[in-house]
Amino acid sequence: MKLDLEGRTHLVGGASRGLGRAVTAELVAGGARVLALSRTRETLDALREELGDAVLPLAADIAAPDAVATVQRAVADAGGRLDGVVINGGGPPAGRALALSDEQWLGAYELLIGGPLRLLRALVPTLKADDGGSVVFITSSSVRQPIPGLDTSNVLRPGVAALAKVLARELGPEIRVNSVGPGRFDTDRGRSLDTARSQREGISVEEARAAVEATIPLGRYGDPAELGRLVAFLLSDAGSYVSGAAVQVDGGSVTAVP
Ligand SMILES: NC(=O)c1ccc[n+]([C@@H]2O[C@H](COP(=O)([O-])OP(=O)(O)OC[C@H]3O[C@@H](n4cnc5c(N)ncnc54)[C@H](OP(=O)(O)O)[C@@H]3O)[C@@H](O)[C@H]2O)c1
Repeated sequence: MKLDLEGRTHLVGGASRGLGRAVTAELVAGGARVLALSRTRETLDALREELGDAVLPLAADIAAPDAVATVQRAVADAGGRLDGVVINGGGPPAGRALALSDEQWLGAYELLIGGPLRLLRALVPTLKADDGGSVVFITSSSVRQPIPGLDTSNVLRPGVAALAKVLARELGPEIRVNSVGPGRFDTDRGRSLDTARSQREGISVEEARAAVEATIPLGRYGDPAELGRLVAFLLSDAGSYVSGAAVQVDGGSVTAVP
């Protein structure tokens, strides 16, 4: 299916690496411009070198209150109107509920909920309601099934999926809102989780990865492009009747029913 993204402008969080980068590449390949948001200017510039002028670098920390003004300026410079927003950034800290500090819990809240709420308050008025705006949150398989040792995600991310559901009701019919829950993907984040497990359990990184792969019915980590395609679909008119959905992309690893 060819997604008609010519002339569209999307803002993508966590765009310089991993899943956000894959979404950006898919959108650019479909003809869209992408305001590519992440904290490090150099990696964004490298992304523009690689993918071309359709990438508009936007250096900001999604968790920081001053990100809103920076993002609003960048949107204004790009013409003042957006077709879609992808809420995504780095993962929250690993650890068990009672061992994590108050600061870690508050930081995880700002990254996953507080910062995204501030950004969407500012960005929703710029979404092209007449053509149907679209918002996609990247969450995690933890919205359906807790992941051992990742309790900030296990506790807060179901709230993000709920936020997407609530916003789908509040912002419809003009704007669609969905969330996408990745299982394990081959990204820096996925690899850092394997490294942490290998250190915790005294096994090699390869053994840590093989142990996760053994729990995935498709038997492997996802390629970020496999998530990028789904997010591009949800942002495009091809997904015109999908709103309020929490879609898993996890190779079948979540065992909860439905
Ligand atoms: N990969 C997986 O297996 C997996 C599974 C489930 C859920 N997820 C979730 O999906 C999201 C993306 O994961 P990923 O694997 O793509 O991670 P990644 O490879 O670590 O990439 C994270 C991206 O987000 C940016 N970023 C980090 N903190 C940010 C912040 N505060 N503000 C703005 N940008 C920020 C990073 O660039 P800078 O460092 O330059 O800011 C980078 O571009 C994360 O929330 C992760 O928890 C991933």
